[in-house]
This record gives sequence, structure tokens and C-alpha cells, in this order.
Amino acid sequence: MKLKIVRTIENLREETSLWRREGLTCAIVPTMGALHEGHLQLVRRALEHADKVVVSIFVNPKQFGVTEDLSRYPRDEDKDVALLAQENVPLVFMPNAQQIYPAEFATSVQVSGPAKAGLEDKFRPQFFDGVATVVAKLFIQSGADCALFGEKDYQQLQVIKRMAKDLDLPIKVIGVATEREASGLALSSRNRYLTKSELQQATGIYKNLQQAAEKIRGGSKAQSATRAAARSLTTLGFKVDYVTARNASTLAVPQTEDEPLRLLAAAWLGKTRLIDNIAV
Ligand code: PAF
Repeated sequence: MKLKIVRTIENLREETSLWRREGLTCAIVPTMGALHEGHLQLVRRALEHADKVVVSIFVNPKQFGVTEDLSRYPRDEDKDVALLAQENVPLVFMPNAQQIYPAEFATSVQVSGPAKAGLEDKFRPQFFDGVATVVAKLFIQSGADCALFGEKDYQQLQVIKRMAKDLDLPIKVIGVATEREASGLALSSRNRYLTKSELQQATGIYKNLQQAAEKIRGGSKAQSATRAAARSLTTLGFKVDYVTARNASTLAVPQTEDEPLRLLAAAWLGKTRLIDNIAV
């Protein structure tokens, strides 16, 4: 199958409405490019949920803070397209910033609830409004029936699920389990910044989350298990931003013993910030 690249909303709509007219369903996989195996897994899963898939590649300026360097975000359009062609992706949407945010653009989606859980939002205050704004636009532009996001960015996934529900967007938001190295390290475009020894050290996040989950399943209090995990990560050389147990869908601090829990962690290894999370 030949991969088609479209760069305008008009062309995207032409392609997806052709599919709809043929009675075919469509999934969207929103990305910012720099694709890795984790993204390709989303694409494969998308094709299990829908007849067609469109992958968007757009480095969204609205989700970068003033101190974050948008121009340094890794970009490799040719490599990304080649990888998607190998996966038989029929359509790639690669708009420029002007297409998504024309000069007079004045509307944005403001998210709360899981977006204000005091996790990633504490470190990147404008991030989730930026994500929600572009994702809502992509949902509307594509008219897709479902959208797939990695559980690696667990808070983002819950924010998008909430946003789609709250705005009555007719799309099913599907979370896909985190792809991991054999060592357990979650795949991330940031892993490329880790040295060989840091790559080894980095496996500590997943191992400590697993140990904490085991302790909780065995009857330990969530707070003492996550505190122990944070201490152990510090000993391993991480600078810990958080290790915490939250309600798996609202991301609020759990109030009862029987809530479904998610353990989430963020920690720095040298100059690289890593995040991970697992179910209890
Ligand atoms: O996870 C990402 O790559 C981005 O936040 C997303 C969902 C594509 C929105 O820009």
C-alpha cells in the first residue's frame, strides 16, 4: 500500500471522508515524530481497532514551556515516513504550525481534573492545555472513530480521555501498554540521551515501581511503599520528582482501600528526565 502524506486540514478531510463513504472506520495516532518502536506498536494496535489509520506528526508549540527549547525537539521526517510505510500506514498528516495555529488563532482547551493532579502539571504547568488543544483539533479534523495513546504518558492519557468525554467528542480513546526494553526500561525518545551506564541505571525506575506494587498487593500502605521506592531511587543516583500512588483514572490521591491504583514516577538521571508508571 502506498503511503500518502497530506499537509493541510482540507486534504486530511478529503482522505478520511473518502474512507467513511466506503464504510471504513478510521483510527488516529497523534505523534510529534521522532518515532520509535512504542509509536509503531500504537500503529499496529490501531489497525486492530479500525480499517484505516492516520498518523499525525506535529511538534506542537503550545505544549512547550518558555524554558523548553522547541527548536531542539528531535525531528526526522524522512525516517519517520519510512518507518510508517513499513507498517503499511496509508495516511500521514504533517501540518505546519500555521496550518494548526493560524495568525488569528484565539481558542484553547483548558483542562482540569487529572490535568491538575500535581504530577507532570507541577513541572510543566501549560503542558496539558497545549496537548488538549491540539488533540481536540486533531480529533475534529480527522473525524476518526478511535485514537490510540501510549500508557507511558499515563497522565496525558487520562487527561485526553476526560477531555473527549467532557467535550462529547465522538471518538474512543484507547490506551496501549508501554513498550519496554528487555531490561524493563520504558521506550522513550529521551532514552537516546542516556549514556550506556545510565541506560543500565535507568532500569531502576521500573524495578522499584514493581517492588512497590508487590508490597501494596501484599498489604503494605501505598504511601510507605512509594516512599521506599523514592528512597531507593535516590540511593541509585536519581533525582526524584515524584513516586506516588494515585486513583487509576482520576489520578487523585486515593481515599479508600479498594480504589484501582496506578503507581507513577518521574526522576532525573543526569540531564535526562524519565517517567514511568504501572498498575497495582
Ligand atoms: O505524546 C505526544 O507525543 C504529544 O503530547 C501528542 C499527544 C502527540 C500531542 O502533541
